[in-house]
Amino acid sequence: MSKKAAAKSSPKKAAKTAPKAASNSKSLMTESRVFKPSAEFSKKARISSMAQYKKMHEESIKHPDKFFGREAKELHWTKPFTKVLDWKCPNAKWFIGGKLNVSENCLDRHLDGPRKSKAALIWEGEPGEKRVLTYQQLHREVCRFANVLKRHKVKKGDRVIIYMPMIPEAAIAMLACTRIGAMHSVIFGGFSAESIKDRVLDCGAKIIITADGGYRRGAVVPLKKNVDDALKGKDTPVETVVVYKRTGQDVHIEEGRDVWWHRELEYVDARCAPVAMDSESPLFILYTSGSTGKPKGILHTTGGYLLHAQMTCKYVFDLRDDDVYWCTADIGWVTGHTYMVYGPLALGATSLMFEGAPNWPENDRFWKIIEEYAVTVFYTAPTAIRAFMKWGDEWLKKHDLSSLRLLGTVGEPINPEAWMWYHNKVGGGKCPIVDTWWQTETGGHMITPIPGATPTTPGTATLPFFGVDAAIVDDLGKEVGVNEQGKLVIRKPWPSMLRGIWGDKKRYQDAYWSDFKGWYFAGDGARRDKQGNFWIIGRIDDVLNVAGHRLGTAEVESALVSHPAVAEAAVVGRPDEMKGQGVVCFVTVKEGIKSSRELGEELKKHVRKVIGPVATPDEVRFAAALPKTRSGKIMRRLLKQIAAGELIKGDTTTLEDINVIAQLAAGGED
Ligand code: WT7
Repeated sequence: MSKKAAAKSSPKKAAKTAPKAASNSKSLMTESRVFKPSAEFSKKARISSMAQYKKMHEESIKHPDKFFGREAKELHWTKPFTKVLDWKCPNAKWFIGGKLNVSENCLDRHLDGPRKSKAALIWEGEPGEKRVLTYQQLHREVCRFANVLKRHKVKKGDRVIIYMPMIPEAAIAMLACTRIGAMHSVIFGGFSAESIKDRVLDCGAKIIITADGGYRRGAVVPLKKNVDDALKGKDTPVETVVVYKRTGQDVHIEEGRDVWWHRELEYVDARCAPVAMDSESPLFILYTSGSTGKPKGILHTTGGYLLHAQMTCKYVFDLRDDDVYWCTADIGWVTGHTYMVYGPLALGATSLMFEGAPNWPENDRFWKIIEEYAVTVFYTAPTAIRAFMKWGDEWLKKHDLSSLRLLGTVGEPINPEAWMWYHNKVGGGKCPIVDTWWQTETGGHMITPIPGATPTTPGTATLPFFGVDAAIVDDLGKEVGVNEQGKLVIRKPWPSMLRGIWGDKKRYQDAYWSDFKGWYFAGDGARRDKQGNFWIIGRIDDVLNVAGHRLGTAEVESALVSHPAVAEAAVVGRPDEMKGQGVVCFVTVKEGIKSSRELGEELKKHVRKVIGPVATPDEVRFAAALPKTRSGKIMRRLLKQIAAGELIKGDTTTLEDINVIAQLAAGGED
């Protein structure tokens, strides 16, 4: 609908009631077009009206025992739970007394009926190879690889690092861990050797599963070499490295430590009974950035996580047996965990996995895949959508996208222009869009439309999912008024919430549960409109969101100061049309070192090497000093304004040396 409605809203008034925020906040503040699900979509959907959503949401909040007790029956429990929830903030236990196995829920239970020969995973490699694994085949591969793990003495509770390209074996390795009760920690293939080393040491992994390499835009990513570098000369707990042959390039094989995946399979058979795990036993660790230099090992457990993954695939993606569902996220991020592997497989759906980039070999690769496999449900990130918009509509027009029935986005606020383009050009104007807000910590969708029920407006993730008691509050915990910006909090535990930070109880308490007693603070700022829709504004802590990837400013800073030329560094985000945010570094060099363009380039490379290509700075600026308050705190507010090219606003009276600002604003010393 209607331009009329959009014109009716008063931009002035809206701007007054809410403070300014992220780059696209202007259009987000005035957007008011409403899109209702079509009668045709609603009729077939599991939840088909707002009344039904509201009734279920109310029950999930008021009577969680009843609501989740019922929903959890859709999982296969080896031993039934006796109590739904035990909550002593910040520690939640869900489905107490219950035992289950994740791989059994994702595989074995589908083998008794018609799903046995249904595609579980459809895979396309970047160079174009295709593979389909039915539920029966995937089950067999998972059992075999679980036996390989056992052969290498991996036991219940052990940590397994998975550093792999986007190939079915990555999912097989994950599921194999769950089969024997080992915990996995998947590391995104875009992370460096140093990042691998930090994670190996933090979680105490005794085995790494990797590949010789992976493909990315026609080039080979040297995964095995990165693992070798991570383990070089270090006293690490790693005893075994299993290498899958993907690219076939030469790799070093360390005698006594490294083994080939395909060789190992020769020693094992395909029978492996799933281990019944306590509902609260640890399932995986996934590292994510926080506001300190050290990534946090987010811990998820078994029953609650799997239930939420399955439930959101059922209600938010409305997945059916005849859907071909494609989540474009990498398996190294939580989206890949929950929405490429665990959620869809638990539900018995068909999940498509693609190894490559959206613009390789050409800008229509995604559309080509959608056409070829007749994808029906498609889940991607706003940053990708903006890239497609830039590349132009002709790439889309070459392909028949009429199979699509539902679209989703995740990772950052979507600007209304991108939403409209997605809706009209990709969805042909007929597909509902679910803009899903959640985090690594939340395990699955938290604020999201229900596609057959919720009216959507471009830019809002709309309303809380079942069991989610979300609110926007001021610093004292008081709910703010309509359209006023505040902090997004969750006031009740939910099944897939993180259970801790690996090895750091105190940080878990401090990072999430200390701002407001008894409530989870998500790190995001948001506002709520008069319909109750949540509009996420973005991180308000020192965490950046670069192309939907989380990056701590402190992490980049600590990488910069590890370079011998750098004395001090401060990193901020600046609005970026494509990536949402770009990384800008302010650097002072040590005595006797001369700053130069070359040094700037070298520092960019250095950050890339320390953290990985995901963290590559967009710009490095030098100055004789960084702007600080009299107490020595770096004034990030000013740096952000300088980075964005804005004139310095606000109070600078506490600033130590005003000349610094002029110098930084002018682009640095050189
Ligand atoms: C942060 C979490 C959830 C998987 C991908 C990212 C931002 C995420 C949305 C959305 C606005 C969003 C938030 C959040 N974010 N989805 N739909 N609308 N912002 O996971 O790396 O843990 O990052 O991403 O700022 O806190 P993550």
